[in-house]
Amino acid sequence: MKEKLVSVGVVGCGYWGPNLVRNFRNAPACLAGAVCDLDQKRLQHVKKLYPDVKTTTSFSDIVSDPDIHAVAVATPVRLHHEIGMAALDAGKHVFVEKPMASSAAQCRELVALAAEKNLTLMVGHTFLYSSPVRKIKEIVDSGDIGKLLYVSSRRLNLGLFQTDINVVWDLMPHDISIILYLMGQPPVSLNCQGSANINPRIEDVATLTMKFPNGGFASIHGSWLDPKKVRDMTIVGSRRMIYYDDIEPLQKIKIYDARVETPPHFDNFTEFQYAYHYGDMYAPRLDQQEPLAVQCRHFLDCIRSGDEPMTSGRRGLELVEILEAASESLGAGGASVGLERTALKAPRAGRG
Ligand SMILES: NC(=O)c1ccc[n+]([C@@H]2O[C@H](COP(=O)([O-])OP(=O)(O)OC[C@H]3O[C@@H](n4cnc5c(N)ncnc54)[C@H](O)[C@@H]3O)[C@@H](O)[C@H]2O)c1
Repeated sequence: MKEKLVSVGVVGCGYWGPNLVRNFRNAPACLAGAVCDLDQKRLQHVKKLYPDVKTTTSFSDIVSDPDIHAVAVATPVRLHHEIGMAALDAGKHVFVEKPMASSAAQCRELVALAAEKNLTLMVGHTFLYSSPVRKIKEIVDSGDIGKLLYVSSRRLNLGLFQTDINVVWDLMPHDISIILYLMGQPPVSLNCQGSANINPRIEDVATLTMKFPNGGFASIHGSWLDPKKVRDMTIVGSRRMIYYDDIEPLQKIKIYDARVETPPHFDNFTEFQYAYHYGDMYAPRLDQQEPLAVQCRHFLDCIRSGDEPMTSGRRGLELVEILEAASESLGAGGASVGLERTALKAPRAGRG
C-alpha cells in the first residue's frame, strides 16, 4: 500500500538541524517541506545542499503553511516550548529535539496540547534508535547478563560550549535516556555535582548519580572540558558485563563473561571468599543503520498509524524532570533529591 505523504518543516538549522533535513528528505513518502532559521547564512547553507527546499526566517511561516503536516524543532532549548506549542496549536505533529523543553511545566503543556489535539509528539532521544543501544537492551532483557546492577557512563569532549544550558542539560539527556531504557524504570533519587570553569554561571563538568527502585545504580560523568572525546558506557550485571564504546567504528559493544562470586552461606568473615571469574569476550554483529534515519522513520510511522512514539512527549517530560532535579541538587551542593513520579501522572496522550 502506498504510504501517505508527510511534509515536515524543520525549524532551526544550525549544527543539528541539517541532519534532520537530510533524513526527512531520505525517508520514503516524506518531504522536507520548508526550513526556517533566523540566520540567513544557515539558510544559504541549506539552499546550497538542497536548492529545491523553501526557506524562511520566520517560524510562523512554517506553522501557518497548510501544506506542512509536521514540524521538527532543532533550535536552542529555550525556544522548544514556544515553537512546539505554536505548531501543535496549528494542528501540526511535532518532533522536538532533546531536551524537550526548559522545564517540566513546559513539557506538561506540550503533552497536554498534543493529547487535546490528538497529534503526535515525539522527542529526539536519538540513541534509543541506535543499533548498539537496542542490542544492549535486547541482551539485558533476555536475562543473559543476570540482574542489572549498575551502569556508568562518560560523555567527554573539548566543547561544544553552550551559552544557555549547562553540560547536564546539553550532554546528559543522551545518557539518561539510555539508562532509563535499560533500567526500565525511573530513578527514585539522584545527586549531582559540578563546576563552572570557563563561564562562571554555566557548569562545564558534572557528575550525576541515580538510584533505582530495584536497587540499581547509575553514574554519568559529562564534560565540555576534557582533552579526549569519550562516549562510553559500562553495564554491569550479576553474571556478565557489557562495555559500549560509541567511538569504536565497528565493535561498539563487547560482552565480557566476567563476574565475582561469593559463597552462598557463611558463618563468619574468615569463610568469606571472593571467586573472580574471567571468561570469554565477544562482540556481537550490529546493523549499520544511521540512528537518525530510524528515528525520523519512526516519527513518520507514528503520524500515519496514530501509535505513541517510543520516545513520546511523556518520555521527554520524564527526562526533563530528572534534569530539573539534577539542577536542584547542583544548586544544593550535590544533596540527594527525591523524584516524585509526576511524569506518569501526566495526561495520557494517545500519540504523545
Ligand atoms: N539528538 C542529538 O544527538 C542532538 C545533537 C546535537 C544537538 N541536538 C539538539 O538540537 C537542538 C539544536 O542544537 P544545535 O547544536 O544545532 O544548536 P545551534 O545553536 O547550532 O543551532 C540552533 C539554530 O537555531 C536557530 N534559531 C534560533 N532562534 C530561532 C528562531 N526563533 N527561529 C528559527 N531558528 C532559530 C539559530 O540561528 C541556529 O542556527 C538542541 O535542542 C540540541 O540539544 C541534538
